[in-house]
Amino acid sequence: MAKGKVDALLGIVFGDEGKGKVVDCFTPKYDIVARFAGGPNAGHTIIFEGKKFVLRSIPSGIFDEGKVNIIGNGCVIAPDLFMAEAKELEAAGYDLKSRLHISKRAHLILPTHRVLDRAYEAAKGKNKVGTTGKGIGPTYSEKAARTSLRVGDILENFSEKYAALKSRHEQILKDLHYTDYDITEEERLWLEGVEYMKSFPLTDTEIELHKALKAGKSVLAEGAQGTMLDIDHGTYPFVSSSSTCSGGVCTGLGVAPNAIGEIFGIFKAYSTRVGSGPFPVELFDETGDKIREIGNEYGAVTGRNRRCGWVDLVALKYAIALNGVTQLIMMKSDVLDTFDTIKACVAYKKDGVVTEDMPYDTEGWEAVYEELPGWKTDLTGLTSPDQFPKAFQDYIDYLEKALETPITIVSVGPDRAQTISRA
Ligand code: GDP
Ligand code: IMO
Ligand code: MG
Repeated sequence: MAKGKVDALLGIVFGDEGKGKVVDCFTPKYDIVARFAGGPNAGHTIIFEGKKFVLRSIPSGIFDEGKVNIIGNGCVIAPDLFMAEAKELEAAGYDLKSRLHISKRAHLILPTHRVLDRAYEAAKGKNKVGTTGKGIGPTYSEKAARTSLRVGDILENFSEKYAALKSRHEQILKDLHYTDYDITEEERLWLEGVEYMKSFPLTDTEIELHKALKAGKSVLAEGAQGTMLDIDHGTYPFVSSSSTCSGGVCTGLGVAPNAIGEIFGIFKAYSTRVGSGPFPVELFDETGDKIREIGNEYGAVTGRNRRCGWVDLVALKYAIALNGVTQLIMMKSDVLDTFDTIKACVAYKKDGVVTEDMPYDTEGWEAVYEELPGWKTDLTGLTSPDQFPKAFQDYIDYLEKALETPITIVSVGPDRAQTISRA
């Protein structure tokens, strides 16, 4: 953490790496925590003192009462879901209204965007992206098409603007022959959410950040999704619709590249993916089922099975380079505690071609593995690196050497306390 800088914590694989947990752990060191991309497609889990929260749009720095949290311009926000999430935190005793600032430039997800999300998925047949159904793609599409509504729009003549956009959506849905939907109740809550949002500071968060950085404050940018779901660099078209990489921090918060400090890349000791799309390390056998069971790999947003496999060094090397990762954080190490051996994917192969570089079309590639001994030790109670069993230390050394980047934090359980610093 450096004064006057923005550090970024980014998921560098397919999301759900444990970003929420680590942002929560890091928050005491920072003045401001800010989300720069995505919306309620995210599900960030935070567990401490026997309490569990799953955050979608609200940054994971919110549990540190003294800190300002920002929903940046690069985010998309659904007022009804935001209201439900914020009220849950308020009911748990957290005061949000003064310290959760929302960018007027963030874009609004309408109820009809969610219907469009379902309609586009239905029209895709076999090639469904497997979206979270939160209206992410349709909202970001309209942002690019310059037909969307922003948070700032709720402050003036909103009813007309809303009615016009909704009716455009209804026409598109009619054209798609997707008319069997009823948003009456959803819309009621959504409009209530719009009013509720007005009780929060809706600000030019970009300017607020410029002033804070100039005054020497430190900012932590919290990623959502992961590098392989990035709209440009992920496994397109099986991706989300935002810039999840470090470049997205600049565009999604309005901060300059030279304001960026450390870039923490977070990954699991193995791999997971929710939704469709290529996943060369996917295990379809009992080993994959065992990882899913022990790791509780079911989506925090949709409850879907997460697809599981061994760690993927091809994807990690690509993500480290794309993001300029300076430090790695390895999560869920404890999930591999009982395995006799651990594998790491070091290359992909297809039709006699072997590559260590992320291919343009990741479809149809098979993983090439190296195998390492398991540590067969319960890591969950460990508190310091000098307690690590040798085989676990060897796994860390192996990854650090292959990835040419230090692993400075290791997580051995879901609780805030189960986080070990190696720095
Ligand atoms: P995020 O989207 O990156 O914030 O991650 P999610 O919250 O979607 O998924 C991570 C899941 O792993 C959550 O259920 C966490 O409680 C859990 N978790 C985080 N770190 C660890 C860990 O080190 N070990 C175990 N067993 N679970 C963890
Ligand atoms: P966090 O922040 C894992 C996936 C969806 C789908 C694709 C597109 O919790 O890590 P979308 O609804 O964004 O249009 O879906 O992206 N996806 C995620 N997978 N973690 C996430 O967020 C995700 N957000 C979206 O499953 O495959
Ligand atoms: Mg998640």
